[in-house]
Parts: sequence; C-alpha cells; structure tokens
Amino acid sequence: MKIIVCENYAEMSARAAELIAELVKAKPDCVLGLATGSTPVGMYKELISKNEAGEISFKDVTTYNLDEYYPIEPTHEQSYRYFMNVNLFDHIDINKEKTFVPNGLTQNPEEEGAAYDAAIEAAGGVDLQVLGIGQNGHIAFNEPDDALIAGTHITSLTEDTIDANSRFFASRDDVPTRAFTMGIGSIMKAKKIILLANGKNKHAAIAKMLDDKITTQCPATILKAHADVYLFCDKDAYNG
Ligand code: F6R
Repeated sequence: MKIIVCENYAEMSARAAELIAELVKAKPDCVLGLATGSTPVGMYKELISKNEAGEISFKDVTTYNLDEYYPIEPTHEQSYRYFMNVNLFDHIDINKEKTFVPNGLTQNPEEEGAAYDAAIEAAGGVDLQVLGIGQNGHIAFNEPDDALIAGTHITSLTEDTIDANSRFFASRDDVPTRAFTMGIGSIMKAKKIILLANGKNKHAAIAKMLDDKITTQCPATILKAHADVYLFCDKDAYNG
C-alpha cells in the first residue's frame, strides 16, 4: 500500500484528484468506482474545477457507485444518487446514462446485485475505485462481521454506522437501516484503489488497517491483499 500523509484535508483532496485526473487523461473512457460520504466531497470539487478548466473531460467516463441506502427513492435528498448528482455529476460533462448507483428500490436484490457486478465486468472492470472508511473499518457498507460477502448485496447497517450517518438526516430514526452495497469481492477486483481518510475519528480504523492482520472485523484490512492501493490521509487520521 502506498501511503500519502497530507498536511490537511485540502491537500488530501487535491492529491487524490490529481491521481484520478492522470487516469482520465491517459484513458478517457475509463471506469471509475465512486464513493459518497463527507470525505470525497473536496476531491470531487477539485475534479469539477479541473473539468471546468478544460484539463480533463468525463464525457466518455463510466462510473459505478459503491452503495445506496435501501429502501430509498433516487430523488430523496439523502439518497446516494442525489448526492452524486449534487456533488459531482451535475457539474461535469459526464453522460449521466453512464453513471450507475445501486438501485435503492430493488425488489430483487439477488438478481440486481449479480447484474450490477456483471455490468462492471462487461464494462471492462473498475480502473480506479475510490473508497472512504467507516470509523468501524467498513468499506462501502461491508460492516464488521464474522464473514464478508463477495458480491453486491443488501446488508444491515450497524448501530455505529447509523449513528455516524444520522448527521445527514433530520433524526436518527430517519436513517435507513439497510443498504445495497458492492461486496468485498467487487471492490477487490478494481485495478487500482484510492482510500481517503481524514480526521482523528478515522485514526483507529486506519491504524487497524495498517497493522499486520487481515480480519473480517475490520473489513478495510483486506485492502492489504490488493496490489495497487493508495491511502491518501491527513495527519490526524494517520497519527491520531
Ligand atoms: C459511502 C461509503 C461509506 C463511506 C464511509 C465514510 O459510499 O461507502 O463506506 O465511505 O462511511 O463516510 P464519511 O466519508 O462520511 O466519513
């Protein structure tokens, strides 16, 4: 794992965006795996600036998002589809028909989960996957558990995750308790992975990820088994 410790959130966002921009320049029809949450927002702003400045174009890029709440309407202000539109897609020259987010209203998660993974494969696989990390070490919504699921699936959020995400909702009771998420296998198939982490509240998860064990109780530890991972973090997340 390549570890890039940055002075602050702004530097982390700029350096991660630079890596994505390099890929988009080298492979204009690349497939990006994208994440939501607070962490990548600064990086998305940098990508929007680069697009506005004409440095990069997303017109041939395809994107697959990691996850979506379940059940939730795509037009709901807290849905991840809405988040992606507001924080990135509405501001860049991407073809929205090439942007995919798991269907938060699926009636058939098994079939749609398998179809989501198959579509990624058919598109040539994810060239670069962006990840955040939960305070409990989750990646996408693969929560700590005795076993992890390989493919895209419906999962229950842990109480910690519901607590952490309640900051975006009017009340804790409004936070969906389930999500439709890419699995660990789907994530590990990406050719390159960027994990972003900032703030002291991510330090414990980052320290655990960087120790010498791989455990399903901290799903991010599996990233040590991937050959091309960049960790972009700030000093607070790295040092505590
Ligand atoms: C979001 C996702 C989650 C977040 C994680 C960190 O698509 O998959 O795993 O990356 O919960 O969230 P923030 O960035 O809000 O701290």
